[in-house]
Amino acid sequence: MRVMVLGGDGFCGWPTSLYLSDRGHDITIVDNLSRRKIDIELEVESLTPIHPVSERLINRFDYDGDYGTVLNRFLMQAAIGHPLTVHGTGGQTRAFIHIRDTVRCIEIAITNPPLAGDKPRVLNQMTEVHRVMDLAKMVADVMGADIAYLPNPRREAEENDLNVRNDQFLALGLKPTTLSEGLLDEGRQVAARYRDRVDPSKIVCRSVWRAGMETADDLVTELPA
Ligand SMILES: NC(=O)c1ccc[n+]([C@@H]2O[C@H](COP(=O)([O-])OP(=O)(O)OC[C@H]3O[C@@H](n4cnc5c(N)ncnc54)[C@H](O)[C@@H]3O)[C@@H](O)[C@H]2O)c1
Repeated sequence: MRVMVLGGDGFCGWPTSLYLSDRGHDITIVDNLSRRKIDIELEVESLTPIHPVSERLINRFDYDGDYGTVLNRFLMQAAIGHPLTVHGTGGQTRAFIHIRDTVRCIEIAITNPPLAGDKPRVLNQMTEVHRVMDLAKMVADVMGADIAYLPNPRREAEENDLNVRNDQFLALGLKPTTLSEGLLDEGRQVAARYRDRVDPSKIVCRSVWRAGMETADDLVTELPA
C-alpha cells in the first residue's frame, strides 16, 4: 500500500515510517523539519542522538519540560538521580501507549479501511490510563527516585477522570504492551544509556499557561536541592 506519513520525522511518525516500510508498504514522509528547528532554537537535543544519516535510525526521546512526555521525563530523571517532577497534585489522568503499539495501530487502521459510504470512524490509540502521581510512584518504586511536586504550569483541573476505550483496536487484533510488561523497562534502558546527554537546565518546564506565573524561574526555585 502507498502510505503518506505526515510528521514522519517526529517521535511517532519516524518509527511508524520504519515499521510500515519494513512490512512492505511504500512510504512517503511529509515533514517540514520544524521540530528539528525547535531543538536548535531551544538549545535542547533529543536524549537519543539524532543524525541526518544514522546507521541505527534511532528514534527521538524528548525529556525536556516543554516537549518531553511525562513517562520519558520521569525515566530520564530517575536515571540521573533527579527528583521526578510532578505538576500540581499529579491528579491528572493520562492515556499511555507503547510506541510499538502506536505503529501497529496505524497498520491496523490502514489495512482495515472503512467501506465507501460508512460513517467516519474514530479509533482511540491508547492501551493504559494512569494518574500522573501513580505513574511517578511506579517509576520511583522501580528506580528508587524521589518525587518533587511543582506548581502546575498548565491551566487545567487539579484532577480529572479519563474514560476512554480501545475496544475497536483490540477487536481488530491489537495486543497491547503494558507498562509492567515492557514499556517501563525499555524506556529505562534508553534513559540509562544516554544519561550523559542530559542537560539538567532543560528539565523543568519553561512554558507557563497560568497568569501570575510569568517566568520559569518560579518553578525552578521549587525544586529541592
Ligand atoms: N508523543 C506522544 O506520546 C503522543 C501521544 C498521543 C498523541 N500524540 C500526537 O501525535 C502527533 C505527533 O506527535 P510526536 O510526539 O510525534 O511529535 P513530534 O514533534 O516529535 O513530531 C511532529 C512532526 O511533525 C512535523 N511538523 C510539524 N508541523 C508540520 C507542518 N506544518 N508540516 C509538516 N510537518 C510538520 C515536525 O517537524 C515533527 O517532525 C501530535 O499531534 C501529538 O499531539 C503524541
